[in-house]
Amino acid sequence: MNTETKYLGLHLKNPIVVGSCGLTADVDKMVQMEQAGAGAVVVKSVFEEQIIHDIKRNTHMVAPTDSYGDSYEYIAQHVADDSMERHFSMIREAKRRLTIPVIGSINCFSYENWLTYAQKFEEAGCDALELNMAILPYETSLSADDVERTFSQVITTLRKSISIPISIKVGTYFTDMAKQMQQLSWMGIQGVTMFNKSVEVDIDIENECLKNASFLSNPEDMYKTLRWVAILSKKMRCDLSASTGVYTAADVVKMLLAGATTVQVVSCLYKNGIDTIRELHEGLTAWMERKGYNAISDFRGKLAVMPAEKASVAMRTQFMKYFAEIV
Ligand SMILES: Cc1cc2nc3c(=O)[nH]c(=O)nc-3n(C[C@H](O)[C@H](O)[C@H](O)COP(=O)(O)O)c2cc1C
Repeated sequence: MNTETKYLGLHLKNPIVVGSCGLTADVDKMVQMEQAGAGAVVVKSVFEEQIIHDIKRNTHMVAPTDSYGDSYEYIAQHVADDSMERHFSMIREAKRRLTIPVIGSINCFSYENWLTYAQKFEEAGCDALELNMAILPYETSLSADDVERTFSQVITTLRKSISIPISIKVGTYFTDMAKQMQQLSWMGIQGVTMFNKSVEVDIDIENECLKNASFLSNPEDMYKTLRWVAILSKKMRCDLSASTGVYTAADVVKMLLAGATTVQVVSCLYKNGIDTIRELHEGLTAWMERKGYNAISDFRGKLAVMPAEKASVAMRTQFMKYFAEIV
């Protein structure tokens, strides 16, 4: 039974990837993930806000910011470099101790920093880089064109500046999801991760303030991902990694049948432990054996919407089957 696969041009022993999260900021845990059978890991993202927070905290600890005069820029750069260096030394250690691919991850909001940080990830030895570009279009002044321009500027610049494979992790807020995803896949990137799950906001009615809702996904959340993977996998010119709501081996099989190249798991590891990876892998191989499949390529994309087929027709047929029983 061969569960090997190629993802972002990298060789994976199976398609189960641990998505970026707090667990992948710890090399010992990443080693456990490899031992449990993970195909690759995406390291915890570096967020630009986090670097800025470090700069503010560290400079304030020494003196008020306005007392630095001309030296502020220099000191801020030093703190930023130090903060990044801690992350890169973790990545270098992960590369030393793991044999599976180690994928870096960044999330920036300023154009220049995407470039600076991406180059440093390549120097640190990452096998690939996932750009967390799950843009939440909060601002009323932000148009769909603005969002598209951000994607194309960042991807075009980074594609020219680094040579490791690039994947883009996206959210679900697009006015024209199918078209956007297809166009992204034509920009020289190697993969798209669908979808990031952003932290939901809740309200504490006693204290009358905003608070975070649970940041872990639920198993039902996988249906949104499954739909879009099935619609897009045959229409993209790059790999598709299915993320959000993958909890069981059956979910892994479904995503692969829909055409995903890999699946990413996070919440299920938080809820059920790192060893769940082993169960997912064993479940996948047991299913392949039962079905008589020798390799992932024997069935991957079998239930994807084909390029010649209209997604709207395929999806509407399902809808009519359920509600009208006319087909
Ligand atoms: C505790 C936690 C931390 C996360 N940190 C990151 C992160 O740093 N970068 C990122 O791209 N996604 C991050 N995510 C999102 C996950 O990678 C993933 O996209 C999301 O949790 C949905 O997958 P799941 O249903 O398997 O949890 C985080 C998720 C959790 C639960």
